[in-house]
Amino acid sequence: MAGEGLTRFWPLFDLVVRTPRLELRLPPRGGVCRHRRCRGSRDPRAGDHAVLPPLDRGRAGAARPRFGQWWWRHRAEWSADKWTFTGVAFVDGKPVGAQDLEATHFRAVRSVETGSWLGRAYQGQGLGREMREAVLHLAFAGLGAEEALSGAFEDNAASLATSRAVGYAENGEARGRRRDSSARTIRFRIAREAWERRRRDDIEIDNLEGCLDMFVSPLS
Ligand SMILES: CC(C)(COP(=O)(O)OP(=O)(O)OC[C@H]1O[C@@H](n2cnc3c(N)ncnc32)[C@H](O)[C@@H]1OP(=O)(O)O)[C@@H](O)C(=O)NCCC(=O)NCCS
Repeated sequence: MAGEGLTRFWPLFDLVVRTPRLELRLPPRGGVCRHRRCRGSRDPRAGDHAVLPPLDRGRAGAARPRFGQWWWRHRAEWSADKWTFTGVAFVDGKPVGAQDLEATHFRAVRSVETGSWLGRAYQGQGLGREMREAVLHLAFAGLGAEEALSGAFEDNAASLATSRAVGYAENGEARGRRRDSSARTIRFRIAREAWERRRRDDIEIDNLEGCLDMFVSPLS
């Protein structure tokens, strides 16, 4: 059991999205994806990205507390009005990266946004696509989303290609913060109808029922 006794207090520990290649679920125990290969996800030659706390920038010692906070904050600040599900992708039981899903006023708006990263050793093998399809399955089939949004810096070829590969359409652009400056971000959107046309029948969601209120009802 992923969260052991903690699931009494935090049922999301039991939520699992299962595909033939990976499982997406909260990290167990301390709640941080600690696998060393999950750290250096950014190829310095490629585009920077906006998702990760900067563990692969500067000195790891200084960045570590922020890395921990990134994971814990989303749990501590969770409410049905604003949540971020920080899923970790496990392949054969090993953490390989993270795929998050966030929403604001989901019950009313039915819109989610995703962000993801993989340890460098695991990039370029179809896992980024697999975990995006897994989280879209959770959003559309599990939670009843009507649209999913994403975005990437214009030079992040892998992320742009992943969004296109799973059926997102371009949805404008924005300015995003990149270190001390800004860079052009390409925005993407996939609506429920487009997802339905390509939905997979080999993805399963376990134990969503016990978590549904956390996603769609205000916490009391
Ligand atoms: C972005 C990321 C999650 C994509 O995952 P990935 O496993 O590397 O990508 P996949 O192997 O699943 O490839 C998905 C699609 O993109 C294509 N692709 C992957 N890398 C590519 C690249 N560098 N250039 C062009 N296309 C690329 C693949 O061919 C595939 O398309 P297909 O399914 O039509 O063949 C991963 O590369 C990563 O973690 N990058 C660093 C962190 C990051 O940038 N996160 C996104 C922040 S916005």
